[in-house]
Amino acid sequence: MTIRKILAYPDPVLRVPAVPVTKFNEDLSQLVVDMAETMYDAPGIGLAAPQIGESIQLILVDVSREEDEQKFMVMINPEIIEHEGKQDDEEGCLSVLELTAMVQRYQKVTVRYQDIAGKEQELNAEDRFAVVLQHEIDHLNGVLFIDHLSSLKRSLYKKKVKKMLAADQRG
Ligand code: NI
Repeated sequence: MTIRKILAYPDPVLRVPAVPVTKFNEDLSQLVVDMAETMYDAPGIGLAAPQIGESIQLILVDVSREEDEQKFMVMINPEIIEHEGKQDDEEGCLSVLELTAMVQRYQKVTVRYQDIAGKEQELNAEDRFAVVLQHEIDHLNGVLFIDHLSSLKRSLYKKKVKKMLAADQRG
């Protein structure tokens, strides 16, 4: 088990569209274990493989009901096949430092995916869980939640990141 480094915006790897997973083998299981470790260490409620530099269509979402519990779902090659309604909720991202913002998403989604054994599955989600799924699936398309903000908000954030990076180089 290894805690992997989480890439942060503006790392270009976060913008690379992830390729479908075709091999459901030990390497994939090992990657899932590392991602779970990394997600709970962060801590986060979702993690997409591209965030640790693996540009493949794999996401983990936390489904713990209690605080001290660690229970997650693995979704491979996930795809939103149906959606309904709209909701606004606050989002943050382990790859977008020091920012949370309101984002509009679908209220309900149906996701088709493969499980760790490669078996096809479908899942209906709504409310906060639907938000997390949409956010993580976006990562597989090289999309970050800041892409859903107004261009003004996004450019303010870009300026802030430039300042943070400049301060890092000086320090
Ligand atoms: Ni994220």
